[in-house]
Amino acid sequence: MCGIVGYIGFRDAYPIIIKGLHRLEYRGYDSAGISLFDKELKVYKKAGKVSDLENFVKDIDLGGTIGMGHTRWATHGAPNDRNSHPHSSGNRKLTIIHNGIIENYGIIKETLVNKGHVFKSDTDTEVLIHLVEDIQNETGLDLREAVRVALTKVIGAYAIVIMSADEPDLLIAARKGSPMVIGVGKGEYFIASDATPIVEYTKNVIYLNDNEVAYLRREDLLIKNIDNTVQTPYIQKLDLQLEMLEKGGYDHFMLKEIYEQPRSIRDCMRGRIYPQQGKVQLGGIKEYTEKLKNIDRIIIVACGTSWHAGLVGEYLIEEYARVPVEVEYASEFRYRNPIITEKDLVIAISQSGETADTMAAIELAKEKGATIFGICNVVGASIPRTTHAGVYTHAGPEIGVASTKAFTAQVTVLTLMAFYIAQQRGTITQSKLIEHLTELNSIPELVERALKSNDHIKEIAEKFKDSTNCLFLGRGSSFPVALEGALKLKEISYIHAEGYPAAEMKHGPIALIDDDMPVVFIATKDSSYEKVISNIQEVKARKGHVIAIVTEGDTEVKGMADFVIEIPQTDEAFVPLLATIPLQLLAYHIAVMRGCNVDQPRNLAKSVTVE
Ligand code: G6P
Repeated sequence: MCGIVGYIGFRDAYPIIIKGLHRLEYRGYDSAGISLFDKELKVYKKAGKVSDLENFVKDIDLGGTIGMGHTRWATHGAPNDRNSHPHSSGNRKLTIIHNGIIENYGIIKETLVNKGHVFKSDTDTEVLIHLVEDIQNETGLDLREAVRVALTKVIGAYAIVIMSADEPDLLIAARKGSPMVIGVGKGEYFIASDATPIVEYTKNVIYLNDNEVAYLRREDLLIKNIDNTVQTPYIQKLDLQLEMLEKGGYDHFMLKEIYEQPRSIRDCMRGRIYPQQGKVQLGGIKEYTEKLKNIDRIIIVACGTSWHAGLVGEYLIEEYARVPVEVEYASEFRYRNPIITEKDLVIAISQSGETADTMAAIELAKEKGATIFGICNVVGASIPRTTHAGVYTHAGPEIGVASTKAFTAQVTVLTLMAFYIAQQRGTITQSKLIEHLTELNSIPELVERALKSNDHIKEIAEKFKDSTNCLFLGRGSSFPVALEGALKLKEISYIHAEGYPAAEMKHGPIALIDDDMPVVFIATKDSSYEKVISNIQEVKARKGHVIAIVTEGDTEVKGMADFVIEIPQTDEAFVPLLATIPLQLLAYHIAVMRGCNVDQPRNLAKSVTVE
């Protein structure tokens, strides 16, 4: 969390930085701040969104061709002006921005306080810049060395940028555990938490590795390891278009991303399925084909929406590949002593590819000898660089904090993986595979059709926008869809919502049902249809309001539910890809009607780089 951006070159730094901060705001929006050098080192910071910072500085002349900015997701210290980044050293000659957590900041702070350092904020970050200053004072080291030495003393995760009043043609950046990309221009360099602030200026980027420190000047760039050895940077070409980062006529990124799903699912399958030949090809994991034949178990680790995708994956992989699957919250998995062997395959799912808990779960499983696959959306992020192999979702940048198109793309990849593994292990017949892949190939069109219910869903949203609670129920692979529907609603509209397996309702949630309680059922025509109908009746008997997602042409549920939303008929295996669409739209419209900021829900961030 927290977004950082820096610039050194020949252009005015402020417009580049502020635009970059807007792009990175998905990472946190508790406060924002900038540091610029224009004759002297200046700092401006403000609690609130990037636009609040813009308003705050609008009458100030902001010159300078070197600078940096930060948008914060608060960890240590309340989200106020004082705790906003950048933070300064005691002598005001150094400024720092930071994404991550310095875990041993308490002990370092105590030592520094005893030496007379005075702190102005409650943050861990301020401690680091005082430490650099202290090392300079004590040892006389130059700034480059002092920063490097300071970093050897901190425990935790960081992506930092430091500026100095004494060296106004230098930006020092470093990373360990938090992402950082350098944009390489002609006579200019950019630095940011991801490539989105950089893409319009250059497509040449370097992804900084853990434990690297970069020294950026207008005319050159030097990257060293924390142990002081010079590194040879690997410059890559960005595959990112500017249009992907804009709303393209939609009111919100979330709505744009919901509507992008026919395309994103198609992009995800492109070149990977051959329906007529009954073949799935996944280049990213093909080296592990033999291994897949002999795995004992698959463990899926993920957080949030990605964890829900993992649960759908469990149904698909067990059904088709006949391998036992366990799905774990990454944050729980790492804090017990899980039994993992070399015959296990761990699949880590992450949209951002940066989630700290998922990263840590991967490290743990790696230590124990498991093979690790990644399913990620952001190309070049930390998780795809840590895993042994993987499959990108290719959904394109997802900017709305609530995940939509990334979820359906993750489910699509898991579907492909299930068939791929089944193919290798001989647990599916060729004719079945042809049948399934032919249907899978038509899913983008069926998603397009599901989106046509938007106006009807808006009418339903109007009826339930003032609810305080909502239940989401489904069975089989529609249970994780119910969880995802509940998560979407609660995270963007702040309505309390729970997802449950429909049959579990009678073991508790049924007590909540009265004539104030909307209950959303996924009641499509599949193997549990009849059972779900019984659950609907149980809710109706207690005067609950039923909104049912049904298969096109259904008449039975229509007769008992208050509202139905139709989705096209498809294979049972692919229902999650379609049933999710109306739930996303329902959450979206309710949140808009309640006046919520759907793209930036309170307290959340898109990329969670703290544990
Ligand atoms: C945050 C985001 C969620 C996301 C989760 C996991 O909580 O707000 O949308 O599902 O992190 O993120 P990942 O990038 O690992 O999928």
